[in-house]
Amino acid sequence: MMFENGANGVTGPLKGIRVLDWTMWQFGPMAGAMMGDMGADVIKIEALDGDAGRALSRASTLAPTLPGGRNAYFETNNRNKRGIALNLKTSEGREIVYKLVGTADVFIENFRQGVAERLRVGYEDLREINPMLVYGSATGYGPNGPDSALPSFDGCGQARGGLMLSATPSWSDEPVRVSQGVSDQMGAIMLCSGVLAALVARHVQGVGQKVDASHLSANMWLQGMGLSMSLILGGSRFGSYDRKSAWNVLANLYKCKDDRWIQLMHLQPDRYWESFMTALGLPQLVDDPRFAAGPARMENRDELVALMDEQFMTKTSDEWDKHFRATGDFIYARVQSTDELEYDPQVIANDYITTFDHPAIGPIKMCNHPNIYSETPSGIFKEAPELGQHTEQILVDELGYTWDDITALQDKGVIL
Ligand SMILES: CC(C)(COP(=O)(O)OP(=O)(O)OC[C@H]1O[C@@H](n2cnc3c(N)ncnc32)[C@H](O)[C@@H]1OP(=O)(O)O)[C@@H](O)C(=O)NCCC(=O)NCCS
Repeated sequence: MMFENGANGVTGPLKGIRVLDWTMWQFGPMAGAMMGDMGADVIKIEALDGDAGRALSRASTLAPTLPGGRNAYFETNNRNKRGIALNLKTSEGREIVYKLVGTADVFIENFRQGVAERLRVGYEDLREINPMLVYGSATGYGPNGPDSALPSFDGCGQARGGLMLSATPSWSDEPVRVSQGVSDQMGAIMLCSGVLAALVARHVQGVGQKVDASHLSANMWLQGMGLSMSLILGGSRFGSYDRKSAWNVLANLYKCKDDRWIQLMHLQPDRYWESFMTALGLPQLVDDPRFAAGPARMENRDELVALMDEQFMTKTSDEWDKHFRATGDFIYARVQSTDELEYDPQVIANDYITTFDHPAIGPIKMCNHPNIYSETPSGIFKEAPELGQHTEQILVDELGYTWDDITALQDKGVIL
C-alpha cells in the first residue's frame, strides 16, 4: 500500500515514488525532504537512538530546540517524511529493510563509507533484492581515493572545496565560513538531483544504479563556472571582488544614506552607461574623457567608484530603489538579510516562505520547496516524524507483520 499524500494541495511530481531515507544530520535528510516536498512517500529509517540531528543544540547563533522535544533543525530536514526506527545490527531489522526495499524506488544514505556494507544494506546487497533500485550515497570526499572514508561535516566541505576562500574578501586573512549549513544543503541538492536523473534513466533505459554525491564535489560544483574558467585559463585564480576598485563600476556594491547597500549588476556597462549615470544624477560624467570609454573607465575606476560612492550617499536605499524603477530599466538588487525575506513582496507572492500548521507546535513558517510545478504542486504537507512514529503502521499495515510479531520484535530490541 502506498502512503497517499495530498494534504495542503501537494500532489507533487514524485507522487507514486517511494524513498527509503536512511540518513542523519542535514546532507542526506535534506535530499529526502526535497523528494518529500515533491510528493514522494519518504520513509525515514533511524537507529533506535535516533538521528543525532534530533539533538542538535546550537547551529551558529541559533538554539534550535522547541517545546515538546522538537527541534527546528530536525523539523526542516525531515519534513514530509514518515519515520521508522530499526536496529540494523539485527537480522530481523535488516529483514524489514529488505522487505521495504522490495517496495521502494529509491534508497538514500549518508553514513561514513563502509557503514552500509557492514550492516549489509550497501548497494550490492540491495540491488540483489531490487535491481531497479536507485541508491543514493553521500560522503565527505567522494567514493574513491584515500580520504573516501573520512568523516565530514559542512565546514569540511566549505574548507576543502574552496568555498571559504572564495567567500573571503581580499582585505581579510581569515577564511569565511558561510553560515546555515550551505555545504550540506548544496550536497543535498546534488544528491537529490542525481537521484532524480537516475529515476529518469530507470524509466527510459531500464537500469537501476548507485549515485554518489559528496561535500567536496558539491562545493566545487557550486563554484563550477569560476573553477572551470580558471582551469581553462591555465590555473589563474578567480579572485574575490574588490568593491573600491571594481572593473565594472556598474556591477558593484554601493552604500546608501541609510547604511543599506545596493548591488548593481549591469554586465554590459556600455549599454547602461549613459542612462544609469544620468539616473544616478551624474550626467556630467557621461562624456567625461576619464570615464566615457571602456579602457579609460577601467583605468580610472577607483576615482569613479569614489564619485559614485559619494552620490549614492545622497539618498536612502528605498529612495534609490523608487528612483531607479521610475527612471529606467536597470538591473540591481537591494542587499537583504535572510530575516527580511519573509516580508519581501516577491517571496510572499511566490510562497517561497510558506506557513505550515504543525500539529504539535502550531503554525510555523518554513522555506518552501524552491521550484513551482504548474500541474503537480510541491510543498509542505507533513511535520517531521517522531522517533519510530510510523514503525507499527508500516510493519502491520504495509508489510503484513502481526501484533504478536511487533511484541516479539520489541522484546528482541529490533524496534522501539
Ligand atoms: C556524519 C558523520 C561524520 C557521522 O560519523 P559517525 O557519527 O562517526 O557515524 P558513522 O557514519 O561512522 O557510523 C554510524 C553508526 O551508526 C550505526 N547505525 C546507523 N543506523 C543504524 C541503525 N538503524 N541500526 C543500528 N546501527 C545503526 C552504524 O552502524 C554506525 O555504527 P558502527 O560504526 O558501530 O557500525 C559520517 O557519517 C560522515 O562523514 N558521513 C558522510 C558525510 C555526511 O553526510 N556528513 C553529514 C553532513 S550533515
